[in-house]
Amino acid sequence: MSENRRRFRSAEWYGKNDKDGFVHRSWMRNQGVPSRMFDGRPVIGICNTWSELTPCNAHFRTIAEHVRRGVLEAGGFPLEFPVTSLGESNLRPTAMFLRNLASMDVEESIRGNPIDAVVLLCGCDKTTPSLVMGAASVDLPTIVISGGPMLNGHYRGRQIGSGTAVWQLSEQVKSGEISVDDFMEAESCMSRSAGHCMTMGTASTMASMVEALGIALPTNAAIPAVDSRRYVLANEVGRRIVAMAHEDLRLSRILTRKAFENAIRVNGAIGGSTNAVVHLIAMAGRIGVDIGLDDWDRLGRDIPTIVDLQPSGRFLMEDFYYAGGLPAVMRRLGEADHLHKDALSVTGGTIWDGVADAPCWNDEVIRAPDKPLTANGGIAVLRGNLAPRGAILKPSAASPELMVHRGRAVVFETIEDYHARISDPDLDIDETCVMVLKHAGPIGYPGFAEVGNMGLPPKLLKRGIRDMVRVSDGRMSGTAYGTVVLHVAPEAAMGGPLALVRNGDMIELDVPNGRLHLDVPEEELDRRREQWKPPVGKPTGGYARLFADHVMQADKGADFDFLVGSRGSVVPRESH
Ligand code: FES
Repeated sequence: MSENRRRFRSAEWYGKNDKDGFVHRSWMRNQGVPSRMFDGRPVIGICNTWSELTPCNAHFRTIAEHVRRGVLEAGGFPLEFPVTSLGESNLRPTAMFLRNLASMDVEESIRGNPIDAVVLLCGCDKTTPSLVMGAASVDLPTIVISGGPMLNGHYRGRQIGSGTAVWQLSEQVKSGEISVDDFMEAESCMSRSAGHCMTMGTASTMASMVEALGIALPTNAAIPAVDSRRYVLANEVGRRIVAMAHEDLRLSRILTRKAFENAIRVNGAIGGSTNAVVHLIAMAGRIGVDIGLDDWDRLGRDIPTIVDLQPSGRFLMEDFYYAGGLPAVMRRLGEADHLHKDALSVTGGTIWDGVADAPCWNDEVIRAPDKPLTANGGIAVLRGNLAPRGAILKPSAASPELMVHRGRAVVFETIEDYHARISDPDLDIDETCVMVLKHAGPIGYPGFAEVGNMGLPPKLLKRGIRDMVRVSDGRMSGTAYGTVVLHVAPEAAMGGPLALVRNGDMIELDVPNGRLHLDVPEEELDRRREQWKPPVGKPTGGYARLFADHVMQADKGADFDFLVGSRGSVVPRESH
């Protein structure tokens, strides 16, 4: 181990011949750790979000094992540790409620232990941002490996995608096109292998984002979870993180403004999830990069969506991998001058080094930039008297004919109010109306729920209506679609203008001009504002109280105000 002469932070635990060194080494020896592991080699933390309650990450022990092999091959000392795992399909009220809590777990677990560099095992939606946010606040050498998407769903001779098919099939049940039994049959057809959602939902988007940011190796996003090439990638990650520890290649050298700008553009090109907006803003905040909605607006405007994946398009992640995956997309963006090619990656080279020769094997799945799915595919940022601090919409998943629309508001005060009334045949609504949902924001729900893509009234579905303008302070699943205005800030629970909307008000949406307007005179809005009262009191205790006291609005990434920034790896008190 002659090359290991750099003194790592783990030497503060394992490198001393005193009482502390005895304690730190002795207890580790009960696992059969040989003495040579304490010879000054880098300790590599393998931060695992395995959990049977997070089905998308349930195969992570196998991935961790392949990372471990790579670490050992390269002369590192691998130590796997668990952190809070957020399963999108099970957690209530919403996994987003716990994203910041999980990030605190990650941050303190890394800093408090003898770890020199860390591999983050990410998969289901919130497991990627929570781990990256926590690691960014410590700023050690770090690589992400994603767990990979499930194989494509197959149902009655056609392919179906995670989440997206659920919304489509449930609408067909409501409209009477298929039976409930038909619907139930699709359950096992949709999720037929290990892995996360195989649409371009939030999990696939965030796996693409970390690859675009340069904190994952090329091809990370798309290799199916059960493809043996993902295990090879995990092995490479294990080898590379040891080298990064020696090079002291920390996250802050890679997660620069250029890296985030690249990621925002890539999100437009892949038709990525709207959730990437809050997650990237929060991740950037942890490493001291000031990214905001204006950056999303500016950088995404001229980016064509060239990846034809559900929910925006037709194909699924397995097809995306076979077509060339994210390297092929990034090559096309780079050739169109939409990438900072010199941004650094965990490879030690530039982003461009990893994608310059990437082949594309299928121009239907990954289109040429002059034949895009949507010409202006980036996230549209909307502002106006209804959203002074901004709102967003995903053009590639919306209906072109609704991008400029004026309609009568039909207001649901809460998601419970929506559920109670949406199926009422007497509900006064038609397809020209604008459905408004309040109290789905960070504080109002609480936790910022994925309910913004509220389903249309069954009576309109039965008439064949498939999209309407919807406006809320909530989020929507990355697998969802529609002309859905999300993340309205400030939210209704804070007394934002959304709280003042009443049935019958006229709302104007103008996506090309970035405008969301409530057509009610200012004096009337002032009068309503004076009458407004907060709908609910604050939680009296527990994490819910911490959340309510400190969560910021959507335009700030919904992080906690006291977590913004990097606090480094120094432990306040270092010995027993
Ligand atoms: Fe885990 Fe979709 S539910 S990625």
